[in-house]
Amino acid sequence: MPSTKTILVVGATGKVGSRVAARLAEHGHAHRAVSRSTTPSFDWENPESWAKALEAVQVAFVSFMPDLAAQGAPEIIEQFIATAKAAGVRKIVLLSARGEHGAELSENKVRQSGLDHVVVRASWFNQNFDEGMFLPSVLSGTLAMAAGDKLEPFVDADDIADVAVASLLDNRHNGEIYEVTGPRLLTFADAASEISAASGLDVAYVPLSVTEFHAALLPVVGQDDANLMANICAELFDGRNERLGDGVQRALGREPRDFGEYLQRAMAGGAWQAAA
Ligand SMILES: NC(=O)c1ccc[n+]([C@@H]2O[C@H](COP(=O)([O-])OP(=O)(O)OC[C@H]3O[C@@H](n4cnc5c(N)ncnc54)[C@H](OP(=O)(O)O)[C@@H]3O)[C@@H](O)[C@H]2O)c1
Repeated sequence: MPSTKTILVVGATGKVGSRVAARLAEHGHAHRAVSRSTTPSFDWENPESWAKALEAVQVAFVSFMPDLAAQGAPEIIEQFIATAKAAGVRKIVLLSARGEHGAELSENKVRQSGLDHVVVRASWFNQNFDEGMFLPSVLSGTLAMAAGDKLEPFVDADDIADVAVASLLDNRHNGEIYEVTGPRLLTFADAASEISAASGLDVAYVPLSVTEFHAALLPVVGQDDANLMANICAELFDGRNERLGDGVQRALGREPRDFGEYLQRAMAGGAWQAAA
């Protein structure tokens, strides 16, 4: 049955946020989908923009940008929690990243907030390859990353959204930390090879050192984001995440979608078509 609570979706034009908002809309749940480009506008860098978005909200899905591991993120999350509580919010579902110490500091702010909460800790998203930061690399044929030959269980944004929506709507998930991953460990070379086979493109993985990766990013994204991405790679690709999580299974009672299924859906949706 559709809920009468207004559910706030922060980051609602993003890979996960858009899917969360679409599911809530599909099932008739009152919600407000916000980001910097919506009305009302919501900007993490402008706390004055938060109040309007939080009006009449009881439950919030929170996707932080640029990353919960970014410098100052825990403080911003703490300030957001205080504003949300004052506005009457009772529950937060936080999208987080697996294995990032900085992200755990922000998670702890939510877990210690006194609000009902669920943490959805995700591995790297499949959709980075067709909707996100790796799209230009796939189209150019060179996927250069500082991930060595480490294994990553890429997770589908549709699974993350399914877990997030279940967590928003059903209080039996309260207090959970769901580590959501795909069902298979892949190297970035494996991912490039599977994308090539599915799409007809010729995509090669080029492993870079963290220093080389930083130098390549710097002119494209600037100092702050290059530092952030390089630090994330240095931290995450040390082997700590070379294991599967069970968040999708625990939250939804089903297996996560496979990378191959993602590729089929992406191709059916026209991904990478112009380049192929
Ligand atoms: N991508 C991954 O593989 C991955 C893995 C694990 C965890 N995560 C985490 O998931 C979260 C979302 O990542 P994503 O890859 O889904 O991002 P995304 O698809 O690029 O979406 C980002 C969303 O945030 C909004 N946004 C950007 N800057 C903002 C700001 N200053 N204030 C308010 N909204 C802002 C964007 O819309 P506007 O531009 O309209 O503002 C968009 O709706 C991040 O916290 C990330 O660390 C990502």
